[in-house]
Amino acid sequence: MARIELKNLRKEWGGATAVAGIDLAIEDGAFVAVLGPSGCGKSTTLMMLAGIYQPSSGDIMFDGARVNDVEARGRNVGIVFQSYALYPNMTVLDNVMFPLRFKAVERGEAERRARETAALVRIETLLERRPGQLSGGQQQRVALARALVKRPHLLLLDEPLSNLDAGLRLTMRTEIRCIQRELGVTTVLVTHDQIEATTMADRVVVMNGGRVEQAGAAEDLYERPDTLFVASFIGAPPINLFEGQAEGHMLTVNQTQLALTQAARGAVVLGLRPESLRVDGSADAKPMLARIAAVEPMGREVMYTADSPLGEIRFLEAGALPCHGEGDNVPLSFTPASALLFDKASGRRIDARIAA
Ligand SMILES: Nc1ncnc2c1ncn2[C@@H]1O[C@H](COP(=O)(O)OP(=O)(O)OP(=O)(O)O)[C@@H](O)[C@H]1O
Ligand SMILES: [Mg+2]
Repeated sequence: MARIELKNLRKEWGGATAVAGIDLAIEDGAFVAVLGPSGCGKSTTLMMLAGIYQPSSGDIMFDGARVNDVEARGRNVGIVFQSYALYPNMTVLDNVMFPLRFKAVERGEAERRARETAALVRIETLLERRPGQLSGGQQQRVALARALVKRPHLLLLDEPLSNLDAGLRLTMRTEIRCIQRELGVTTVLVTHDQIEATTMADRVVVMNGGRVEQAGAAEDLYERPDTLFVASFIGAPPINLFEGQAEGHMLTVNQTQLALTQAARGAVVLGLRPESLRVDGSADAKPMLARIAAVEPMGREVMYTADSPLGEIRFLEAGALPCHGEGDNVPLSFTPASALLFDKASGRRIDARIAA
């Protein structure tokens, strides 16, 4: 397996910058998810790792050795694309065996390895079929087997689950994670689905505009987002954001005054997660009166939209049935430690917190 390092990696297409200088280290055997909005450079980064795209500048290192000039075939990388890209005229077995044709592996041995890998992803009964005779989920498994058959040093997955229905996506998440653990293969998964990223990976890299906004464990990104972008990208429904003015130890948001643990100055954005707000008085801060404007049951929880002294606010309560109706006034409070504060101009989180 391999330890991967990206050093100030860039990719320009004509005048446009797709990847704007990425520094990232991926430990041997780690499962990393690259998460970010459409067009932020996820696939471009993956294609550079695979050796399909040449970087404009910067270095790619596998186990300490620079591989920029090593072509795709020489890197021992397995890749699964969103489109699966199977060969329609070949049987499943031949598709899975295909990557071994460049290796000095004789046919019998290649077939033995292909069958073993097919069993790993549970397609051993489909080997004589052609891709056109398979469901989307089965094709996805074939693509995965083809990526794994060489026992790659690095497995790259570009939105591999996005064409599957919700139930199958859930199954495949767990299966891919198990296979990755079993093989210990260093894996990079590209996705724009935060649940997929946080459930499958050990570490999540959030990209925006060709840069890495933050890399860390899911709970770091959620509890200690470095930037407003990460705070609003992670968490569903998204965090409530309110603009305010800080002056010394006081933050004023829409005429409501909140004490700060540290002095701050200027335009500040206050972030409150919908799930950190309480109407039952269990949060320790002084409650504010909020008027419920909309009630949306979401299965195991209910989402409320309310008019509060801070502005329009969303909050969640556990339970299938709503406890409050439209027009109700409720005392809403939050645990001060759960509130996040950002400098509005830079978008960066500041150390000051709401005082208890
Ligand atoms: N072959 C190419 N030629 C020119 N521009 C490209 C090429 N491939 C990607 N780009 C541009 O580079 C930027 C990053 O694209 P990329 O495919 O890496 O985004 P992404 O994060 O994978 O997005 P998505 O989630 O939509 O797949 C985009 O602005 C895109 O238009
Ligand atoms: Mg992409």
